[in-house]
Amino acid sequence: MARAFERAIADYLGTEAALLFGSGYLCNLGVIPSLVAEGDLVVLDQRAHASLYAGARSARAEVVTCGPGAGPLERALKRRGEFKNCLVAIEGVHSMDGDRAEVPAIAELATAHDAWLLVDDAHGLGVLEDGKGTCTSGGQRLAVPLQVGTCSKALGSYGGFLAASQGVVELLTSRARSFVYTTALPPMVVAASLAALQILQAEPERTRLPLQKATLFCRALGRPDPQSPIVPLPFGTPERALAAQARLQTAGFLATAIRPPTVPEGTARLRLAFPHALEATDLERLVSAVRGLEVAWPAG
Ligand SMILES: Cc1ncc(COP(=O)(O)O)c(C=O)c1O
Repeated sequence: MARAFERAIADYLGTEAALLFGSGYLCNLGVIPSLVAEGDLVVLDQRAHASLYAGARSARAEVVTCGPGAGPLERALKRRGEFKNCLVAIEGVHSMDGDRAEVPAIAELATAHDAWLLVDDAHGLGVLEDGKGTCTSGGQRLAVPLQVGTCSKALGSYGGFLAASQGVVELLTSRARSFVYTTALPPMVVAASLAALQILQAEPERTRLPLQKATLFCRALGRPDPQSPIVPLPFGTPERALAAQARLQTAGFLATAIRPPTVPEGTARLRLAFPHALEATDLERLVSAVRGLEVAWPAG
């Protein structure tokens, strides 16, 4: 079953091969130290997911962080020449802010600096670019050698994977400790991921709905169009975010308060993730419930 999923996800994303891990966390934890080590450089987007930090730290390479976007990355890569190998790791869609990375520009920069680019597309798969996520643009696969995904978001299942070249996948099969030294996923879980992937392929129109719903929500509140189906509602303090969570819960909406240390001090928020099946009447109820909250929207 795992081999069938790996073949299907690699074909879907346009890579030679893929490797299925127990989870997205285990995937990032295994991939990074398999490709870089002492004497190498890892450049992380400073907002990167905890699993990317965990993988980078266990690699014993030098780890530097940079702000989002191609400009800060280019500055961080000025030191590239001091190191043997270099790996750049970013999220395709930032999990807490919902903004989309400039993957085409970042891929060009990484190629120009002879650096591996790892895009963790946990929040792009299934909902952007007709489901293919941020490593595809206008139907074309971008030069991203390492695409990480999780089966726990749009696929509604469990597991994580790396989509990459055949050579990388073969290497990781024997080198990634979080692949080798842990039990594989149960076949029924993998079957659920595969079935979800088949739905994505057969009905790409479904993949557009989450962003459409997020866009309707933002427009109804006079906010800028979102870049992904993740829309943060900023509240500043954890107490205010928790109070807002309780108010929405009373109205029937589950939106968990995200607090430091997951996000920086002073930026506690509710994080909305719009499902494809959200009914128009529920969307209207959500808009009016959010109108009743004191959201600390940023200026502009
Ligand atoms: C960006 C990102 N990467 C990795 C993960 C970890 O994936 P998993 O839940 O499959 O371990 C998550 C969230 O769960 C995530 O948001």
